[in-house]
Amino acid sequence: MGSFLPNKIISKPDNNQSADSLNFIDLFCGCGGFTLGMERAGFKCLAAIDFNVEAVATLQANLSHIKHVLHRDLTAFGPDELSELIGVNHVDVIVGGPPCQGFSTARKVGGANHGERLNDDPRRHLYLVLLKYVAFFRPKVFVMENVLGIKTAAGGEYFTRVQSEARALGYRVHGQVEDAWELGVPQKRRRQLIIGTRADIPGYFSPNLRPSPCALPRTLLGAAIGDLPPLRAGEGENECAYDFSRMVKHLEHNGDPAYKYLFEVLEIDLAKKLTNHVARPHSDRDLRDFALINEGESSAVAMRNGVEFEFPYDKSSFKDRYTRQSRSGACSTIVAHLSKDGLMFIHPTQNRSLTPREAARIQSFPDWFRFPDARTHSFRMIGNAVPPLISEAVGRAVISFLEKENFMSDEINQNCFKDIPKDENEALQWLVPLLDLDSRAYRRVSKDDFFRGWTSVLFLYSGLHPDGALERGSISCETEDIPTVSRIEPRLLTPYYKTSGWPVVLVPIAEEAWRRFESGNFGEEELYCADAQMAGMHYRKPELFS
Ligand SMILES: C[S@@+](CC[C@H](N)C(=O)[O-])C[C@H]1O[C@@H](n2cnc3c(N)ncnc32)[C@H](O)[C@@H]1O
Repeated sequence: MGSFLPNKIISKPDNNQSADSLNFIDLFCGCGGFTLGMERAGFKCLAAIDFNVEAVATLQANLSHIKHVLHRDLTAFGPDELSELIGVNHVDVIVGGPPCQGFSTARKVGGANHGERLNDDPRRHLYLVLLKYVAFFRPKVFVMENVLGIKTAAGGEYFTRVQSEARALGYRVHGQVEDAWELGVPQKRRRQLIIGTRADIPGYFSPNLRPSPCALPRTLLGAAIGDLPPLRAGEGENECAYDFSRMVKHLEHNGDPAYKYLFEVLEIDLAKKLTNHVARPHSDRDLRDFALINEGESSAVAMRNGVEFEFPYDKSSFKDRYTRQSRSGACSTIVAHLSKDGLMFIHPTQNRSLTPREAARIQSFPDWFRFPDARTHSFRMIGNAVPPLISEAVGRAVISFLEKENFMSDEINQNCFKDIPKDENEALQWLVPLLDLDSRAYRRVSKDDFFRGWTSVLFLYSGLHPDGALERGSISCETEDIPTVSRIEPRLLTPYYKTSGWPVVLVPIAEEAWRRFESGNFGEEELYCADAQMAGMHYRKPELFS
């Protein structure tokens, strides 16, 4: 097999900026979790927009160097107005987290997440706002963050529409789930990313986000909050001196992981004061109930162990009323609902729920980032935010996607690559024998023959991402226009899966590619063979590379 980072392949013109000069806008920016991480990754924020007055004020107060932090309703404020206001029409990246309440699996009607009331929820259509900005600015990359519920809401309709509408705008789109715990955030939090890369830009966006160098792969809850002064329910101050002697003891017990998280992620040395460390009051009855729960236990587990709680509600429906978090694991997902009550977020060792500062630390916000004194506002914006450590990982993945082009030189010479088709006819010659095989027959195909078939797929379908190939859902029979392919084998175009755009007939080949990858028979650079993709792009549109 050929080498996959060749000395000579294709160059893509307009895209060789360094990370320093890459810019972005953040739509539905909240208090700036996404903004902060993108900036830490090296991007410059041109504008951040949200219609929540407290969130915008918080972002502005903490990231005061950002010139355009705009308090606007994005359903009324269009990209043309933004472009005029900021005097810029070149945007590299658009990020956005349209509100997720409309998709949250926590909201069910009639036992399902697709009742009429939910379908009508106007917040579900806010992704269209993001695509409107994408259509106007044509950024190189866009990233939309949402809850996992977007994938199944209304039978997958919204998840499909975002992707098919973005493909229609000329983007290579795929979904990817990020797992905050695996990326160094002391929290169980999994979110859906939908990533679009402009289809004239070669390469595949990284299938995995990598942990920030600032964080260890996993951070325990105890390491992240154990240095904060103990409080009783109702105690604390919005601003007080930081107790460094406690921190020293904490570091003695928790070692390097705590040191790294406190200094490199929370940047405690840059915070002048300890802020927002105020515990909400609880009723005496709740406090007596809390005291019955062991560290890491929920009320359901405690009841199974014979504990009798005082709370007056039906014990079978409300068995999960309380959870005491554990120092030695990940905290439950920090959610905006914390603004209503903290019963699922009882401190591991103290008899109270978490403070806003603790919640912010669990979300990886630095200690110098100050939230409003009003607890309701601060909990809501903290729970809504993308953890900055995650958005930093997203930003670094975007940079490495855009920087890959630096490996490319000025010419294409496919003859160097015996495994990459030189034209569509050769691609079809290599691909067609792999159609309609059963799984046992696939296993008998030699590695070289299978790889040539697979590079042919990537050559012919440079606008698709291998990660989307296993996404099923509904099927469309409309035809897309790739003339040489359709003349010879129409099934290579239709029907196709609406969500991913992958032709149905190719999915068994993609499944075999994934099987070979997972069994170690196929490397990452073979599964995501960008050379084959670029060769196909160059074959069809050489002017892109001139
Ligand atoms: C999930 S939060 C985004 C959090 C943000 N990405 C972060 O990391 O901090 C969704 C945000 O959308 C905002 N929002 C909802 N509808 C809006 C609209 N029509 N115009 C502007 N902002 C809106 C809400 O105020 C909320 O802050």
